[in-house]
Amino acid sequence: MRSHGQAAWELLLPFVDAPARQRGRALQEALREAVRSGRLAAGTRLPSTRELAADLGVSRGLVTEAYEQLTAEGYLRSGRGAGTWVGEAARARRTGHSGAVDGGLGSTQAGRLGPGADGGAPVRGVRAPDPVPDGGAARVLVDFRPGTPDLSLFPRAAWAAAQRAVLTRLPHPALGYPDPRGLPELREALAGMLARRRGVVADPERLVVCSGVAQASTLLGFVLRARGLDAVGIEDPGSPEHGRLFASTGLDTVWLPLDEEGLRPGPLTASGVRAVVVTPSHQFPSGISWSARRRAALLDWARAVDGYVLEDDYDGDFRYDRAPVGALQGLDPERVVYAGSVSKSLAPGLRLGWTLVPEALLGEVVERKRTMDLGNPVLDQAVLAEFVTRGGYDRQLRRCQRAYRERRDALLGALAEHLPGTRVSGIAAGLHVIARVPADFGPPERFLARAAEAGVALRPLEDYGTARPADGDVRLVIGYAHLAPSAVTAGIRLVAEAVGRG
Ligand SMILES: Cc1ncc(COP(=O)(O)O)c(C=O)c1O
Repeated sequence: MRSHGQAAWELLLPFVDAPARQRGRALQEALREAVRSGRLAAGTRLPSTRELAADLGVSRGLVTEAYEQLTAEGYLRSGRGAGTWVGEAARARRTGHSGAVDGGLGSTQAGRLGPGADGGAPVRGVRAPDPVPDGGAARVLVDFRPGTPDLSLFPRAAWAAAQRAVLTRLPHPALGYPDPRGLPELREALAGMLARRRGVVADPERLVVCSGVAQASTLLGFVLRARGLDAVGIEDPGSPEHGRLFASTGLDTVWLPLDEEGLRPGPLTASGVRAVVVTPSHQFPSGISWSARRRAALLDWARAVDGYVLEDDYDGDFRYDRAPVGALQGLDPERVVYAGSVSKSLAPGLRLGWTLVPEALLGEVVERKRTMDLGNPVLDQAVLAEFVTRGGYDRQLRRCQRAYRERRDALLGALAEHLPGTRVSGIAAGLHVIARVPADFGPPERFLARAAEAGVALRPLEDYGTARPADGDVRLVIGYAHLAPSAVTAGIRLVAEAVGRG
Protein backbone atom coordinates (compact mmCIF):
# COMPACT_ATOMS: atom_id res chain seq x y z
CA MET A 1 0.00 0.00 0.00
CA ARG A 2 1.28 3.43 -0.86
CA SER A 3 1.93 6.11 1.65
CA HIS A 4 -0.20 9.19 1.54
CA GLY A 5 2.69 11.40 0.58
CA GLN A 6 3.56 9.32 -2.44
CA ALA A 7 -0.03 9.13 -3.64
CA ALA A 8 -0.39 12.87 -3.32
CA TRP A 9 2.82 13.41 -5.24
CA GLU A 10 1.67 11.17 -8.10
CA LEU A 11 -1.67 12.87 -8.35
CA LEU A 12 -0.02 16.25 -8.37
CA LEU A 13 1.68 15.72 -11.72
CA PRO A 14 -1.20 16.19 -14.18
CA PHE A 15 -3.03 18.44 -11.75
CA VAL A 16 -0.50 21.24 -11.24
CA ASP A 17 -0.53 22.19 -14.92
CA ALA A 18 -4.23 23.06 -14.91
CA PRO A 19 -5.25 26.72 -14.85
CA ALA A 20 -6.74 27.71 -11.49
CA ARG A 21 -10.32 27.68 -12.78
CA GLN A 22 -10.02 24.09 -13.97
CA ARG A 23 -8.18 22.70 -10.96
CA GLY A 24 -11.25 21.00 -9.50
CA ARG A 25 -11.98 19.08 -12.68
CA ALA A 26 -8.28 18.34 -13.22
CA LEU A 27 -7.96 16.89 -9.73
CA GLN A 28 -10.97 14.66 -10.34
CA GLU A 29 -9.56 13.48 -13.65
CA ALA A 30 -6.18 12.78 -12.09
CA LEU A 31 -7.80 10.79 -9.28
CA ARG A 32 -9.97 8.78 -11.69
CA GLU A 33 -6.97 8.00 -13.82
CA ALA A 34 -4.92 6.97 -10.80
CA VAL A 35 -7.65 4.51 -9.77
CA ARG A 36 -8.22 3.14 -13.26
CA SER A 37 -4.54 2.64 -13.94
CA GLY A 38 -4.11 0.82 -10.66
CA ARG A 39 -1.65 3.40 -9.33
CA LEU A 40 -4.13 3.80 -6.51
CA ALA A 41 -5.07 0.20 -5.78
CA ALA A 42 -8.46 -0.93 -4.46
CA GLY A 43 -8.53 -0.64 -0.69
CA THR A 44 -5.92 2.14 -0.52
CA ARG A 45 -6.85 4.67 2.11
CA LEU A 46 -6.70 8.22 0.81
CA PRO A 47 -5.28 11.04 2.85
CA SER A 48 -7.81 13.18 4.67
CA THR A 49 -9.16 16.12 2.73
CA ARG A 50 -7.22 18.40 5.04
CA GLU A 51 -3.94 16.54 4.43
CA LEU A 52 -4.34 16.32 0.68
CA ALA A 53 -5.40 19.95 0.39
CA ALA A 54 -2.30 20.96 2.36
CA ASP A 55 -0.07 18.69 0.23
CA LEU A 56 -1.44 20.10 -3.00
CA GLY A 57 -1.71 23.67 -1.82
CA VAL A 58 -5.39 23.98 -2.71
CA SER A 59 -8.55 24.63 -0.76
CA ARG A 60 -9.99 21.82 1.28
CA GLY A 61 -13.34 22.37 -0.44
CA LEU A 62 -11.83 21.42 -3.78
CA VAL A 63 -10.57 18.12 -2.39
CA THR A 64 -13.84 17.41 -0.57
CA GLU A 65 -15.74 17.99 -3.79
CA ALA A 66 -13.41 15.66 -5.69
CA TYR A 67 -13.83 12.91 -3.07
CA GLU A 68 -17.62 13.32 -3.11
CA GLN A 69 -17.77 13.25 -6.89
CA LEU A 70 -15.64 10.12 -7.20
CA THR A 71 -17.53 8.42 -4.39
CA ALA A 72 -20.81 9.04 -6.25
CA GLU A 73 -19.28 7.53 -9.37
CA GLY A 74 -17.98 4.43 -7.58
CA TYR A 75 -14.24 5.08 -7.83
CA LEU A 76 -13.95 5.79 -4.10
CA ARG A 77 -15.93 4.70 -1.08
CA SER A 78 -16.23 6.33 2.28
CA GLY A 79 -16.28 4.42 5.52
CA ARG A 80 -18.79 4.76 8.30
CA GLY A 81 -16.50 7.01 10.30
CA ALA A 82 -14.11 9.42 8.69
CA GLY A 83 -12.03 8.04 5.85
CA THR A 84 -12.07 7.50 2.13
CA TRP A 85 -10.77 4.44 0.32
CA VAL A 86 -10.26 3.42 -3.26
CA GLY A 87 -13.30 1.33 -4.23
CA GLU A 88 -13.37 -2.06 -5.91
CA ALA A 89 -15.65 -1.11 -8.80
CA ALA A 90 -13.08 0.28 -11.18
CA ARG A 91 -11.37 -2.24 -13.37
CA ALA A 92 -7.74 -1.22 -13.68
CA ARG A 93 -6.72 -1.11 -17.32
CA ARG A 94 -3.39 -2.78 -16.96
CA THR A 95 -4.31 -5.66 -14.70
CA GLY A 96 -4.54 -8.11 -17.56
CA HIS A 97 -8.33 -8.11 -17.40
CA SER A 98 -9.56 -9.40 -20.69
CA GLY A 99 -12.82 -8.47 -22.28
CA ALA A 100 -12.56 -11.54 -24.48
CA VAL A 101 -15.84 -13.35 -24.56
CA ASP A 102 -15.45 -15.56 -27.57
CA GLY A 103 -17.61 -18.62 -27.35
CA GLY A 104 -19.05 -17.48 -24.08
CA LEU A 105 -21.90 -15.20 -24.85
CA GLY A 106 -25.27 -16.72 -25.25
CA SER A 107 -24.31 -20.27 -24.39
CA THR A 108 -26.65 -20.40 -21.42
CA GLN A 109 -29.92 -18.67 -20.84
CA ALA A 110 -32.12 -19.13 -17.85
CA GLY A 111 -35.57 -20.51 -18.52
CA ARG A 112 -38.17 -18.05 -19.66
CA LEU A 113 -39.95 -16.22 -16.92
CA GLY A 114 -43.64 -15.73 -17.21
CA PRO A 115 -44.89 -12.19 -17.45
CA GLY A 116 -46.00 -10.63 -14.23
CA ALA A 117 -45.98 -7.07 -13.09
CA ASP A 118 -45.31 -7.60 -9.40
CA GLY A 119 -42.50 -5.07 -9.53
CA GLY A 120 -40.08 -7.64 -8.14
CA ALA A 121 -39.42 -10.12 -10.90
CA PRO A 122 -38.04 -9.51 -14.34
CA VAL A 123 -40.78 -9.49 -16.96
CA ARG A 124 -39.69 -11.29 -20.04
CA GLY A 125 -41.47 -10.04 -23.12
CA VAL A 126 -41.90 -12.02 -26.29
CA ARG A 127 -41.84 -8.79 -28.23
CA ALA A 128 -40.63 -5.26 -27.74
CA PRO A 129 -42.86 -2.83 -25.86
CA ASP A 130 -45.35 -0.87 -27.90
CA PRO A 131 -44.23 2.53 -29.08
CA VAL A 132 -45.20 5.29 -26.73
CA PRO A 133 -48.47 6.64 -28.16
CA ASP A 134 -48.34 10.20 -29.41
CA GLY A 135 -51.42 11.22 -27.47
CA GLY A 136 -53.59 12.12 -30.39
CA ALA A 137 -54.75 15.34 -28.76
CA ALA A 138 -56.65 17.23 -31.44
CA ARG A 139 -55.29 20.64 -30.53
CA VAL A 140 -52.09 20.86 -28.54
CA LEU A 141 -51.43 24.24 -26.98
CA VAL A 142 -48.73 23.09 -24.60
CA ASP A 143 -46.86 19.85 -25.20
CA PHE A 144 -45.20 18.45 -22.07
CA ARG A 145 -44.25 15.15 -23.67
CA PRO A 146 -40.55 14.55 -22.99
CA GLY A 147 -37.73 13.91 -25.42
CA THR A 148 -36.80 17.10 -27.25
CA PRO A 149 -34.51 19.96 -26.35
CA ASP A 150 -35.36 23.54 -27.32
CA LEU A 151 -34.71 23.51 -31.04
CA SER A 152 -34.84 27.31 -31.17
CA LEU A 153 -31.57 27.28 -29.20
CA PHE A 154 -29.80 25.51 -32.06
CA PRO A 155 -26.66 27.59 -32.69
CA ARG A 156 -27.40 28.42 -36.32
CA ALA A 157 -24.75 31.11 -36.75
CA ALA A 158 -21.93 29.08 -35.23
CA TRP A 159 -23.01 25.98 -37.16
CA ALA A 160 -23.11 27.95 -40.42
CA ALA A 161 -19.63 29.34 -39.70
CA ALA A 162 -18.34 25.82 -39.05
CA GLN A 163 -19.96 24.61 -42.28
CA ARG A 164 -18.32 27.39 -44.28
CA ALA A 165 -14.94 26.72 -42.69
CA VAL A 166 -15.21 23.02 -43.45
CA LEU A 167 -16.27 23.48 -47.08
CA THR A 168 -13.39 25.87 -47.61
CA ARG A 169 -10.74 23.69 -46.09
CA LEU A 170 -11.71 20.09 -46.92
CA PRO A 171 -9.61 18.72 -49.76
CA HIS A 172 -11.44 16.84 -52.55
CA PRO A 173 -10.23 13.38 -51.45
CA ALA A 174 -11.90 13.91 -48.08
CA LEU A 175 -15.27 13.64 -49.83
CA GLY A 176 -14.66 9.99 -50.64
CA TYR A 177 -15.96 7.06 -48.59
CA PRO A 178 -15.05 7.70 -44.96
CA ASP A 179 -13.55 5.38 -42.38
CA PRO A 180 -16.71 3.61 -41.13
CA ARG A 181 -15.65 4.49 -37.58
CA GLY A 182 -15.86 8.18 -38.45
CA LEU A 183 -13.49 10.99 -39.40
CA PRO A 184 -10.30 10.83 -37.33
CA GLU A 185 -10.58 14.53 -36.46
CA LEU A 186 -14.10 14.05 -35.11
CA ARG A 187 -13.15 10.94 -33.15
CA GLU A 188 -10.25 12.86 -31.59
CA ALA A 189 -12.44 15.85 -30.77
CA LEU A 190 -15.23 13.73 -29.28
CA ALA A 191 -12.85 11.55 -27.29
CA GLY A 192 -11.29 14.64 -25.71
CA MET A 193 -14.67 16.18 -24.97
CA LEU A 194 -16.11 12.99 -23.47
CA ALA A 195 -13.08 12.30 -21.29
CA ARG A 196 -13.22 15.84 -19.96
CA ARG A 197 -16.98 16.21 -19.56
CA ARG A 198 -18.10 12.67 -18.75
CA GLY A 199 -15.09 10.95 -17.22
CA VAL A 200 -15.07 8.17 -19.79
CA VAL A 201 -12.04 6.25 -20.98
CA ALA A 202 -12.12 7.66 -24.48
CA ASP A 203 -9.67 6.11 -26.88
CA PRO A 204 -10.37 7.63 -30.34
CA GLU A 205 -9.48 4.24 -31.84
CA ARG A 206 -12.44 2.73 -30.03
CA LEU A 207 -14.88 5.50 -30.77
CA VAL A 208 -17.37 4.90 -33.55
CA VAL A 209 -19.36 7.82 -34.91
CA CYS A 210 -22.94 6.76 -35.57
CA SER A 211 -26.47 8.05 -36.08
CA GLY A 212 -27.35 8.57 -32.44
CA VAL A 213 -27.82 6.27 -29.48
CA ALA A 214 -30.43 4.54 -31.61
CA GLN A 215 -27.88 3.30 -34.10
CA ALA A 216 -25.37 2.49 -31.36
CA SER A 217 -28.06 0.22 -29.88
CA THR A 218 -28.82 -1.56 -33.13
CA LEU A 219 -25.14 -2.01 -33.96
CA LEU A 220 -24.58 -3.62 -30.58
CA GLY A 221 -27.81 -5.61 -30.89
CA PHE A 222 -26.74 -7.16 -34.18
CA VAL A 223 -23.32 -8.03 -32.79
CA LEU A 224 -24.73 -9.64 -29.65
CA ARG A 225 -27.37 -11.51 -31.63
CA ALA A 226 -24.67 -12.85 -33.95
CA ARG A 227 -22.83 -14.05 -30.86
CA GLY A 228 -25.85 -16.06 -29.82
CA LEU A 229 -27.63 -13.83 -27.31
CA ASP A 230 -31.40 -13.90 -27.54
CA ALA A 231 -32.45 -11.21 -25.08
CA VAL A 232 -31.44 -7.90 -23.60
CA GLY A 233 -32.53 -6.40 -20.28
CA ILE A 234 -33.99 -2.91 -20.09
CA GLU A 235 -34.82 -0.82 -17.07
CA ASP A 236 -38.41 -0.92 -15.77
CA PRO A 237 -39.45 1.85 -16.03
CA GLY A 238 -37.32 2.62 -19.03
CA SER A 239 -37.37 3.72 -22.61
CA PRO A 240 -39.63 1.50 -24.78
CA GLU A 241 -37.55 2.70 -27.69
CA HIS A 242 -34.64 0.66 -26.36
CA GLY A 243 -36.72 -2.49 -26.59
CA ARG A 244 -37.90 -1.70 -30.08
CA LEU A 245 -34.40 -0.99 -31.32
CA PHE A 246 -33.09 -4.27 -29.96
CA ALA A 247 -36.15 -6.08 -31.28
CA SER A 248 -35.17 -4.92 -34.75
CA THR A 249 -31.97 -6.92 -34.33
CA GLY A 250 -33.80 -10.08 -33.25
CA LEU A 251 -33.38 -9.70 -29.48
CA ASP A 252 -36.18 -10.13 -26.94
CA THR A 253 -36.70 -7.59 -24.20
CA VAL A 254 -36.67 -8.37 -20.48
CA TRP A 255 -37.98 -5.62 -18.21
CA LEU A 256 -35.79 -5.47 -15.09
CA PRO A 257 -37.17 -3.78 -11.98
CA LEU A 258 -35.58 -0.61 -10.75
CA ASP A 259 -35.66 0.88 -7.29
CA GLU A 260 -34.43 4.22 -6.03
CA GLU A 261 -30.78 3.14 -6.37
CA GLY A 262 -30.74 1.50 -9.78
CA LEU A 263 -31.37 -2.00 -11.15
CA ARG A 264 -32.06 -4.55 -8.43
CA PRO A 265 -29.29 -7.16 -8.50
CA GLY A 266 -31.51 -10.17 -7.61
CA PRO A 267 -33.92 -9.93 -10.53
CA LEU A 268 -31.06 -8.97 -12.84
CA THR A 269 -29.20 -12.17 -12.02
CA ALA A 270 -32.40 -14.25 -12.11
CA SER A 271 -33.32 -12.96 -15.55
CA GLY A 272 -30.60 -14.93 -17.30
CA VAL A 273 -29.81 -12.06 -19.67
CA ARG A 274 -26.21 -11.23 -20.42
CA ALA A 275 -26.66 -7.75 -21.78
CA VAL A 276 -28.53 -4.77 -20.41
CA VAL A 277 -29.11 -1.20 -21.47
CA VAL A 278 -29.09 1.33 -18.66
CA THR A 279 -29.19 5.08 -18.06
CA PRO A 280 -27.22 5.42 -14.79
CA SER A 281 -26.38 9.14 -14.86
CA HIS A 282 -30.01 10.23 -15.07
CA GLN A 283 -32.27 7.25 -15.33
CA PHE A 284 -34.91 7.55 -18.01
CA PRO A 285 -37.62 8.18 -17.05
CA SER A 286 -37.48 7.94 -13.22
CA GLY A 287 -34.79 10.64 -12.97
CA ILE A 288 -32.69 8.89 -10.32
CA SER A 289 -28.92 8.78 -10.49
CA TRP A 290 -27.72 5.25 -9.83
CA SER A 291 -25.94 4.82 -6.50
CA ALA A 292 -22.25 3.92 -6.44
CA ARG A 293 -23.21 0.57 -4.87
CA ARG A 294 -25.49 -0.37 -7.77
CA ARG A 295 -22.98 0.78 -10.35
CA ALA A 296 -20.44 -1.56 -8.77
CA ALA A 297 -22.99 -4.38 -8.53
CA LEU A 298 -23.88 -4.03 -12.20
CA LEU A 299 -20.24 -4.28 -13.23
CA ASP A 300 -19.72 -7.27 -10.94
CA TRP A 301 -22.70 -8.91 -12.63
CA ALA A 302 -21.37 -8.15 -16.12
CA ARG A 303 -18.00 -9.70 -15.26
CA ALA A 304 -19.62 -12.72 -13.62
CA VAL A 305 -21.90 -13.53 -16.57
CA ASP A 306 -19.32 -12.51 -19.16
CA GLY A 307 -21.78 -9.96 -20.43
CA TYR A 308 -22.10 -6.35 -21.53
CA VAL A 309 -23.73 -3.15 -20.40
CA LEU A 310 -24.89 -0.51 -22.86
CA GLU A 311 -24.72 2.85 -21.08
CA ASP A 312 -27.12 5.29 -22.73
CA ASP A 313 -25.82 8.68 -21.63
CA TYR A 314 -28.67 10.49 -23.37
CA ASP A 315 -28.72 13.67 -21.27
CA GLY A 316 -25.80 13.24 -18.90
CA ASP A 317 -24.49 16.73 -19.53
CA PHE A 318 -27.39 18.54 -17.94
CA ARG A 319 -27.20 18.73 -14.17
CA TYR A 320 -28.40 21.80 -12.34
CA ASP A 321 -27.37 21.38 -8.71
CA ARG A 322 -23.84 19.95 -8.96
CA ALA A 323 -21.38 18.51 -11.46
CA PRO A 324 -22.88 15.55 -13.38
CA VAL A 325 -21.90 12.13 -12.07
CA GLY A 326 -19.30 10.68 -14.42
CA ALA A 327 -20.16 7.86 -16.76
CA LEU A 328 -20.18 4.22 -15.68
CA GLN A 329 -17.97 3.34 -18.63
CA GLY A 330 -14.97 4.91 -16.90
CA LEU A 331 -15.08 2.16 -14.28
CA ASP A 332 -14.82 -0.70 -16.76
CA PRO A 333 -14.39 0.18 -20.44
CA GLU A 334 -14.14 -3.51 -21.34
CA ARG A 335 -17.64 -4.31 -20.09
CA VAL A 336 -19.47 -1.07 -20.81
CA VAL A 337 -20.42 0.13 -24.26
CA TYR A 338 -20.94 3.87 -23.93
CA ALA A 339 -23.34 5.73 -26.22
CA GLY A 340 -24.32 9.36 -26.53
CA SER A 341 -25.42 11.85 -29.14
CA VAL A 342 -26.09 15.48 -29.94
CA SER A 343 -29.85 14.82 -29.80
CA LYS A 344 -30.36 16.58 -26.45
CA SER A 345 -27.53 19.11 -26.71
CA LEU A 346 -27.98 20.32 -30.31
CA ALA A 347 -30.83 18.68 -32.20
CA PRO A 348 -32.05 15.10 -32.72
CA GLY A 349 -32.52 15.81 -36.42
CA LEU A 350 -28.75 15.93 -36.93
CA ARG A 351 -28.68 12.15 -36.27
CA LEU A 352 -25.14 12.30 -34.95
CA GLY A 353 -23.85 10.29 -32.04
CA TRP A 354 -20.99 8.17 -30.82
CA THR A 355 -20.25 4.91 -29.14
CA LEU A 356 -17.16 3.78 -27.26
CA VAL A 357 -16.74 0.07 -27.74
CA PRO A 358 -14.85 -2.54 -25.70
CA GLU A 359 -11.85 -3.99 -27.51
CA ALA A 360 -13.47 -7.43 -27.76
CA LEU A 361 -16.48 -6.08 -29.70
CA LEU A 362 -14.83 -3.35 -31.72
CA GLY A 363 -14.12 -5.23 -34.95
CA GLU A 364 -17.65 -6.62 -35.14
CA VAL A 365 -19.29 -3.27 -34.38
CA VAL A 366 -17.20 -1.48 -37.02
CA GLU A 367 -17.99 -4.16 -39.60
CA ARG A 368 -21.71 -3.80 -38.82
CA LYS A 369 -21.45 -0.05 -39.20
CA ARG A 370 -19.70 -0.50 -42.53
CA THR A 371 -22.29 -2.85 -43.94
CA MET A 372 -25.16 -0.77 -42.58
CA ASP A 373 -24.32 2.57 -44.19
CA LEU A 374 -20.58 2.83 -44.99
CA GLY A 375 -20.24 5.51 -42.33
CA ASN A 376 -21.91 8.79 -41.43
CA PRO A 377 -21.94 11.73 -43.87
CA VAL A 378 -18.49 13.30 -44.06
CA LEU A 379 -19.55 16.95 -44.10
CA ASP A 380 -21.72 16.62 -41.00
CA GLN A 381 -18.89 14.91 -39.18
CA ALA A 382 -16.38 17.56 -40.19
CA VAL A 383 -18.72 20.33 -39.10
CA LEU A 384 -19.26 18.74 -35.69
CA ALA A 385 -15.50 18.29 -35.32
CA GLU A 386 -14.98 21.97 -36.10
CA PHE A 387 -17.78 22.97 -33.73
CA VAL A 388 -16.43 20.89 -30.83
CA THR A 389 -12.81 21.88 -31.40
CA ARG A 390 -13.60 25.60 -31.48
CA GLY A 391 -15.47 25.45 -28.18
CA GLY A 392 -18.93 25.76 -29.71
CA TYR A 393 -20.17 22.57 -28.07
CA ASP A 394 -19.19 23.68 -24.57
CA ARG A 395 -20.76 27.09 -25.18
CA GLN A 396 -23.97 25.46 -26.37
CA LEU A 397 -24.16 23.26 -23.30
CA ARG A 398 -23.64 26.25 -21.00
CA ARG A 399 -26.37 28.16 -22.80
CA CYS A 400 -28.86 25.28 -22.68
CA GLN A 401 -27.97 24.54 -19.06
CA ARG A 402 -28.95 28.09 -18.04
CA ALA A 403 -32.19 27.98 -20.03
CA TYR A 404 -33.24 24.52 -18.85
CA ARG A 405 -32.53 25.21 -15.20
CA GLU A 406 -34.82 28.23 -15.41
CA ARG A 407 -37.56 26.17 -17.07
CA ARG A 408 -37.26 23.43 -14.48
CA ASP A 409 -37.61 26.02 -11.71
CA ALA A 410 -40.66 27.44 -13.49
CA LEU A 411 -42.20 23.97 -13.67
CA LEU A 412 -41.59 23.21 -10.00
CA GLY A 413 -43.02 26.60 -9.04
CA ALA A 414 -46.12 26.13 -11.22
CA LEU A 415 -46.78 22.63 -9.87
CA ALA A 416 -46.50 23.86 -6.27
CA GLU A 417 -48.87 26.74 -6.97
CA HIS A 418 -51.47 25.16 -9.22
CA LEU A 419 -51.38 21.45 -8.34
CA PRO A 420 -50.48 21.60 -4.63
CA GLY A 421 -49.30 18.39 -3.04
CA THR A 422 -47.59 17.25 -6.23
CA ARG A 423 -44.30 15.52 -5.49
CA VAL A 424 -41.45 15.82 -7.95
CA SER A 425 -38.83 13.10 -7.85
CA GLY A 426 -35.44 12.56 -9.40
CA ILE A 427 -32.27 14.59 -9.39
CA ALA A 428 -32.11 18.16 -10.70
CA ALA A 429 -30.97 17.19 -14.16
CA GLY A 430 -31.92 16.54 -17.74
CA LEU A 431 -34.93 17.63 -19.72
CA HIS A 432 -37.82 16.14 -17.76
CA VAL A 433 -39.16 15.44 -14.26
CA ILE A 434 -41.42 12.82 -12.73
CA ALA A 435 -44.38 14.44 -11.03
CA ARG A 436 -46.77 12.53 -8.78
CA VAL A 437 -50.03 14.44 -8.59
CA PRO A 438 -52.17 13.42 -5.60
CA ALA A 439 -55.25 11.29 -6.19
CA ASP A 440 -57.62 14.13 -5.30
CA PHE A 441 -56.90 15.60 -8.76
CA GLY A 442 -57.43 12.18 -10.36
CA PRO A 443 -58.26 9.51 -11.29
CA PRO A 444 -55.46 9.28 -13.86
CA GLU A 445 -57.61 8.52 -16.93
CA ARG A 446 -59.89 11.48 -16.25
CA PHE A 447 -56.94 13.74 -15.41
CA LEU A 448 -55.21 12.95 -18.71
CA ALA A 449 -58.41 13.23 -20.73
CA ARG A 450 -59.30 16.62 -19.24
CA ALA A 451 -55.77 17.92 -19.76
CA ALA A 452 -55.91 16.77 -23.40
CA GLU A 453 -59.28 18.49 -23.89
CA ALA A 454 -57.71 21.68 -22.55
CA GLY A 455 -54.93 21.36 -25.13
CA VAL A 456 -52.16 20.06 -22.86
CA ALA A 457 -50.35 16.91 -23.95
CA LEU A 458 -49.07 14.85 -21.01
CA ARG A 459 -47.36 11.51 -20.85
CA PRO A 460 -48.16 9.12 -17.96
CA LEU A 461 -45.32 7.18 -16.37
CA GLU A 462 -47.09 3.91 -17.07
CA ASP A 463 -46.28 4.35 -20.79
CA TYR A 464 -42.71 3.49 -19.83
CA GLY A 465 -42.94 0.29 -17.84
CA THR A 466 -44.98 -2.53 -16.35
CA ALA A 467 -45.97 -0.96 -13.01
CA ARG A 468 -49.68 -0.14 -12.58
CA PRO A 469 -50.03 1.31 -9.07
CA ALA A 470 -53.63 1.45 -7.83
CA ASP A 471 -53.31 4.39 -5.42
CA GLY A 472 -55.06 6.82 -7.77
CA ASP A 473 -52.13 9.25 -7.95
CA VAL A 474 -51.30 10.58 -11.39
CA ARG A 475 -47.68 9.91 -12.32
CA LEU A 476 -46.41 12.03 -15.16
CA VAL A 477 -43.18 12.32 -17.12
CA ILE A 478 -43.06 16.04 -17.85
CA GLY A 479 -40.68 17.41 -20.45
CA TYR A 480 -39.97 21.10 -19.90
CA ALA A 481 -36.75 21.93 -21.76
CA HIS A 482 -38.39 22.83 -25.07
CA LEU A 483 -40.86 25.27 -23.49
CA ALA A 484 -40.34 28.89 -22.46
CA PRO A 485 -40.89 29.43 -18.71
CA SER A 486 -44.12 31.31 -19.45
CA ALA A 487 -45.41 28.37 -21.52
CA VAL A 488 -44.49 25.95 -18.72
CA THR A 489 -46.47 27.99 -16.21
CA ALA A 490 -49.41 28.53 -18.57
CA GLY A 491 -49.54 24.80 -19.36
CA ILE A 492 -49.69 23.74 -15.72
CA ARG A 493 -52.32 26.40 -15.01
CA LEU A 494 -54.43 25.07 -17.90
CA VAL A 495 -54.18 21.55 -16.49
CA ALA A 496 -55.17 22.72 -13.00
CA GLU A 497 -58.18 24.60 -14.35
CA ALA A 498 -59.20 21.58 -16.40
CA VAL A 499 -58.98 18.98 -13.64
CA GLY A 500 -60.12 21.03 -10.65
CA ARG A 501 -60.20 19.10 -7.41
CA GLY A 502 -62.02 15.78 -7.66
C1 LIG B 1 -33.53 7.54 -23.08
C2 LIG B 1 -33.27 7.78 -24.52
N1 LIG B 1 -32.24 7.17 -25.10
C3 LIG B 1 -31.98 7.32 -26.43
C4 LIG B 1 -32.78 8.08 -27.23
C5 LIG B 1 -32.46 8.18 -28.71
O1 LIG B 1 -31.40 8.98 -28.87
P1 LIG B 1 -30.71 9.31 -30.25
O2 LIG B 1 -31.46 10.46 -30.86
O3 LIG B 1 -29.33 9.66 -29.82
O4 LIG B 1 -30.73 8.14 -31.15
C6 LIG B 1 -33.83 8.76 -26.68
C7 LIG B 1 -34.68 9.61 -27.53
O5 LIG B 1 -35.41 10.44 -27.09
C8 LIG B 1 -34.08 8.61 -25.28
O6 LIG B 1 -35.10 9.25 -24.69
